[in-house]
Amino acid sequence: MEEIDIKIKVTKKSDNELTEDEKTLVEKAKNATFRSYAPYSHFCVGAAVLLEDGTIVTGNNQENSAYPSGLCAERTTIFYANSQYPNLKVKCLCIAARDSSGKFTSRPISPCGACRQVMSETEDRGKEPMKVILYGTEGNYIINSAKDLLPVSFDASFL
Ligand code: THU
Repeated sequence: MEEIDIKIKVTKKSDNELTEDEKTLVEKAKNATFRSYAPYSHFCVGAAVLLEDGTIVTGNNQENSAYPSGLCAERTTIFYANSQYPNLKVKCLCIAARDSSGKFTSRPISPCGACRQVMSETEDRGKEPMKVILYGTEGNYIINSAKDLLPVSFDASFL
């Protein structure tokens, strides 16, 4: 038997420890929560991605009365970025969320499994690490590679 330990590095930063680029993405992701369409969960998630040429694309969760037809902020944003700028790498993705009280979550917001899968492939597509920033009022989690968020993942190499 062999046990495999998998560790990931997460850096916790207060808002004033963020770099200027990180601060910009956090602000864009926070602002994007105000354009969410979340009439069912009242949980408004915003995302911002930085492309390799400096372009920033934002998006948010889009819900639907047929619940599974809706889409998370991360995938809405990544798919929009890749559909508009298919040749530009996604360097960084930031997410922020407000709960039904209207306040930003204190804990850094955590992407769902399906979004992690898409984030992982987005990193593969760019052939270099894609940074992820998870915003919370108690601090920001910085993960240097999106693939760290989905260890032992399925990818195109299995096909
Ligand atoms: N949601 C996101 O957009 N991203 C996340 O990281 C977590 C969850 C959305 C999906 C749904 O519209 C609402 O938040 C509640 O689950």
